[in-house]
Amino acid sequence: MAGRIPSAWMDELYARTDIVSVVSNYVSLKKDGRRYWGLCPFHNEKTASFSVNADLNLYHCFGCKAGGTVVQFVMEMERLPFIDAVKFLAERAHLPLPELQEDPDYERKRSQRERLWNANRDAARFYHDKLWQPEGKAVLDYLHKRGLDDGIIRKFGLGASVDRWDDLTKYLLGKGYTQDELGQAGLSVIKGDHAFDMFRNRAMFPIIDQHGNVLGFGGRAMGDAKPKYLNTSDTPVFNKRKGVYAINLLRKIRDLKRILLVEGYMDVVAITQAGVAGAVATLGTALTNEQARLLKRYAPEIWLAYDGDEAGQHAIERALDIFETENVPAKVLYFPDKLDPDEFIRQRGLQAFTSMKPMSAIAYKMQRLRLQHDLENQDGRTEYAKACAEILKKVKEPVELENYLELLHVQTGFSKDVLLAQIGVSAQEMGQNNPTQKREQFFVKRMRQPEGYRTEQTLLALLATMKLPAGMVKEEDFSDELLQEIAGKLLTGTPPTEIIAQAENEMLRQAAGEAFNMLDEAQRENAAAVAEDCLRNLQIFRLQQEINAVTQMMRDAQTPEKRADALKEISALSKELARLKQGR
Ligand code: UTP
Ligand code: MN
Repeated sequence: MAGRIPSAWMDELYARTDIVSVVSNYVSLKKDGRRYWGLCPFHNEKTASFSVNADLNLYHCFGCKAGGTVVQFVMEMERLPFIDAVKFLAERAHLPLPELQEDPDYERKRSQRERLWNANRDAARFYHDKLWQPEGKAVLDYLHKRGLDDGIIRKFGLGASVDRWDDLTKYLLGKGYTQDELGQAGLSVIKGDHAFDMFRNRAMFPIIDQHGNVLGFGGRAMGDAKPKYLNTSDTPVFNKRKGVYAINLLRKIRDLKRILLVEGYMDVVAITQAGVAGAVATLGTALTNEQARLLKRYAPEIWLAYDGDEAGQHAIERALDIFETENVPAKVLYFPDKLDPDEFIRQRGLQAFTSMKPMSAIAYKMQRLRLQHDLENQDGRTEYAKACAEILKKVKEPVELENYLELLHVQTGFSKDVLLAQIGVSAQEMGQNNPTQKREQFFVKRMRQPEGYRTEQTLLALLATMKLPAGMVKEEDFSDELLQEIAGKLLTGTPPTEIIAQAENEMLRQAAGEAFNMLDEAQRENAAAVAEDCLRNLQIFRLQQEINAVTQMMRDAQTPEKRADALKEISALSKELARLKQGR
């Protein structure tokens, strides 16, 4: 299907689809009020934290934060792309597929894109064929010298651009492409009336997407010419922030346990030749959220195998943060002696490579912090312990936390109780008796949000019911940035389902999913009254905070005048607080 699905048709599909019955095909659900609960199919659990909201047609897991519309549920469970999940549900609802909305530009854009794909494919063939001709011998020798054999060169479709001005340009013009098209594809550089080859005297790595389209190239210079790698700049078919090198090969691997994300084209090719499956690379830029989401579809875990130098290690920290925001489980393979994976596998062998154990994201971050602090002195140990405590707040499993605590205790000398207090969990809660219950308490505590957050969530959920008088709740009533953004969308008329379906990022989707799924029956019935309570409680809460702040100011005041001013302000605020609390 091409074109856009009309939104009225999507509304019809949502209206005709009962999310409860769809989900029930995969998860056994129990009714509780208007909500349904079951064991989450997306993570391992023993108590039900997976909820389905029939009114809003949404699901949300309070444990792993998975969530979305019924379409997204089918996409996840059946591993289908959006359009196929829609078809799947349409068939189930006996809803004929829609006439696709006419985009007047659509045909033109599609045919332009197709011409550019074809130009790229013809270029890739041309470069590849050159390798086996006398002109391409220098590049072929280079690839051989880098340890690549002909089999792997063919598998990746590597090629040669020769040392001439318009070798490829001339060939493609001869095939009927226009100068303009070659410029747009990033294959030629246009100067005045003339067109020159973009890539000259380089080993060519074609970049192919998951559908098999050639989108662009990375070109490795011979020897020390600069830049070392020249990449296709962004074109109508190529966006280096979205694509992933060698993604086309991932599809063919069955039951891939983990993807190996490396830094360079050469690493991907070398690792694959050595016999390790599932290596991919970004395209000369740092990892983006889009790439993380793309990778997530192909394996349950990503291992970062970046270069062992400082730049690589720094990039790992940033990539781990991105994977975290996208909810992708990630681990790290750490290469010693500043080696990159290509060098490591050549110097130490396949055996050494495959027997390397990945580090958890947490362990890796602790190791990085360890290098930044001097544990020989007390200040260094204190700062290190504090920084690690921040990281350890995110550990979900108490038993894992215990291991990290043990390590941190040995490294810093602080007792585990003190370290736990620093993390924000008391030792009793981590206690050994009744692990299930403790574990749940621990979870609740860990997920504790700033005070007032829950009230804001409730208010947002009430707003989403569309049962509140207009103007009652405003964007400014929310102090949490994400909730405020979601409120803004609701207030401008975006329905909750659409907010979730079109969430720009995972954080937004999670925050909306969690909030929209929190109301119980009684709250829903009395929406306006509950909203009024929420608004008042928020006001009280904020006043209280203000009073605390001014009180602190008074304590710190240097002069009696300032102290008196503060005192006056406190008394005014307190009066207001009392008034609010009486409900006036
Ligand atoms: P590296 O310099 O680590 O590449 O850059 P490498 O794999 O070790 O290359 P060889 O072994 O010397 O051939 C990693 C990646 O960064 C991008 C490329 O995508 C490269 O694969 N890069 C690097 C550029 O885009 N331009 C450059 O000039 C250098
Ligand atoms: Mn490298």
